Amino acid sequence: MMKVFNKIYVSGVLFLASLPVFSQHDSKVEALLQKMTLEEKVGQMSQVTIDIFTDLKTYELKDSMLRKGILDYKIGSILNTWDNVAHSKEAWSILVRKLQMYTQKTRMKIPLVYGVDAIHGVTYTDKATLFPQEIAMAATFNRDLVHRGAEVCAYEARAGSLPWNFSPVLDLGIDARWPRFWETFGEDPYLASAMATEMTKGYQGNDPNNIDKYHIAACAKHFLGYSAPVSGKDRTPAIISENVLREYHLPAFRAAVNTGISSFMANSGLINGIPVHASHYLLTDLLKTELGFKGVIVTDWMDIENLYKRDRVATSSKDAVRMVVNAGIDMAMIPYNFEFCKNLIELVKEGAVPMSRIDDAVRRILKMKMELNLFDHPYDNTKEYPLFGSKDFEKASYNAAAEAITLLKNTHNVLPLSRDKKVLVCGPNANSMRTLNGGWSYSWQAEKTAKFTEQYNTILEAIQNKIGKQNVNYVPGVSYVEGGKYWEEKETGIADAVEKAQKVDYVVLCVGENTYTEKPGDLQDLSLSEFQIRLATELAATGKPVILVLNEGRPRIISKFENKMAATVLAYLPGNFGGDALADILFGDVNPSGKIPYTYPRYSHSLVNYWHKYSEEQVKAEGMYNYESDYSPLYEFGSGLSYTTFKYTDLKLSKNEISEDENQQVSVTVTNTGNVSGKESVLLYLSDLYASLAPDMKRLKGFDKINLQPGESKTVTFILSKKELSFVNIDNKTIAEPGEFEVKVGDLKARFLLK
Ligand code: BGC
Repeated sequence: MMKVFNKIYVSGVLFLASLPVFSQHDSKVEALLQKMTLEEKVGQMSQVTIDIFTDLKTYELKDSMLRKGILDYKIGSILNTWDNVAHSKEAWSILVRKLQMYTQKTRMKIPLVYGVDAIHGVTYTDKATLFPQEIAMAATFNRDLVHRGAEVCAYEARAGSLPWNFSPVLDLGIDARWPRFWETFGEDPYLASAMATEMTKGYQGNDPNNIDKYHIAACAKHFLGYSAPVSGKDRTPAIISENVLREYHLPAFRAAVNTGISSFMANSGLINGIPVHASHYLLTDLLKTELGFKGVIVTDWMDIENLYKRDRVATSSKDAVRMVVNAGIDMAMIPYNFEFCKNLIELVKEGAVPMSRIDDAVRRILKMKMELNLFDHPYDNTKEYPLFGSKDFEKASYNAAAEAITLLKNTHNVLPLSRDKKVLVCGPNANSMRTLNGGWSYSWQAEKTAKFTEQYNTILEAIQNKIGKQNVNYVPGVSYVEGGKYWEEKETGIADAVEKAQKVDYVVLCVGENTYTEKPGDLQDLSLSEFQIRLATELAATGKPVILVLNEGRPRIISKFENKMAATVLAYLPGNFGGDALADILFGDVNPSGKIPYTYPRYSHSLVNYWHKYSEEQVKAEGMYNYESDYSPLYEFGSGLSYTTFKYTDLKLSKNEISEDENQQVSVTVTNTGNVSGKESVLLYLSDLYASLAPDMKRLKGFDKINLQPGESKTVTFILSKKELSFVNIDNKTIAEPGEFEVKVGDLKARFLLK
């Protein structure tokens, strides 16, 4: 009997118990596997895009292609939307139903598993509830909101018979230049791990072995180290030492495994010259063996071909197939042809890929299909999802946006604005649903968003609703070029905006970026565009208070003008209700409570994370040399103001000294000392003061979000165990070293000793 870790949930908390059990699906999987031919097994390992089956003029499925893909090649999975655009949930259901019916014509009658990128709500389903993107969800520091967002997404995906989601992105957002920065939970491994757990549970429900009809299989991506390319550009080489990989990049993925996530997607890039898709060490030794991941590893888009055609580590397409399958890949996102199938069958026959590897892959795939109950219910009935797009779901998205938006600066308490004043709204992001949502919205690059978002409010519309159209003037000043590259802009009346600014009480200036993801989002200059800087500078010169709203996926450099702004509000990519939430914050109906989940750089060449080493902050040393270093972010990780004030008192440790197997309990009292109620994310940082590897200055090791009425106090308690005290040493071992530790919460500090 196999001894595995059995996951047990007690009141929503996951425990790992080492109990000898069979998965309830194992015997069925084995029975199927016994009957399958090599061709059928290889088919299960193949995933192709729906575009190859669809006539893009009529949107009808092409029978000849269905026959080829499903009957001849016996493929096990299809992905993506057709024609790169969103469709109704009914259209999705019809499509998936037809495909699943077709699988009934195959000998084994194994259902397909359909996968999509529903990364902030069901991207490709019209009228689905789109949420803030992950970077904004992280800014809420609210686990419940992340959990709820994923739960809503799962329900709405199922309304269109979509059972598999290529989400969450668990890459660490450590480099502002990287075009997928906003798809991450930001730069902190602890925060990303906590959110990974919540998002996985929200998608999959509480029993990963039985995912019910309101939940879906999740996919942790892109394993591992995808977010740290040296150049900052997508899918370019990364150089990462193993202890760094394990210390910062691995924890969120480990959290997903421990939560029972169904699948993983591999990183498209190279680490230390090795394409991750070809790394047996990362995929098999680390992920499957060491972390004990029992699910499916899928490649990223076309990444087998990339080993030959891009990275040149394989000498032919066939050689590339051999490499990835032997490295531990279970399913190939091929996605346009069936060469993978032919090549893999040959490789097995030639003995270049062992049958045991094929069986392992297919076992994992069949198990996932069983966990999703696809054999009994290969598609869902749209009518059983009455809450799709409901007010309740919309409220969940709004709540997330309202708790994400981060007030970074509020000079002389200029915010909240009073409603009886005149406002000029400017900037290329002021009247755009597209920029509120970001990439992966209704289409890959989100360029089709406007067709689907008539019913939601842009920032301009939300402000007009709030204070009346007669009090709001609008001049974009700068606009994005329709149909152009994401960075193409044109001047559309900067002088006009400046003139109109003279006649109002406040200017709300909405700047940032147009939408992008992946390679099309690569960046040449982190600075905000010249047009936008000019607009901001000239508006500031009018002397009117300018409220700067940043609607951007990554922190563009704004230091040339930000000091002239009266207030700075970071909206991130807050989704379809972001305009409403922002207006509520600007006019005081909502008290902001977001905290920035990354370091906002002041300069393009100072991209340093908050958890840096001491050498990033050297003070002038004795003698003639000046070793001072200029760590000076514009806003630090965790910054975020409120319309009320919070006082931290009574930081208490349960013990002055602990041993490795003892826990340290930390408590702190937080009081709302202002006049309005407010939410506060209480962040606990820990510093290992001396260590055998230069320690980080501080690391987040706990957070909790609380709500306080004026005058109210609450005591928040955190538990620090060996896990929180540990780091990965130069031998790649996770250890806790004896010595002194410092706990920091708010402006309070306390020290204890690890014996
Ligand atoms: C992206 C993945 C995505 C996949 C399928 C790739 O290009 O890197 O994040 O899941 O496409 O759409």
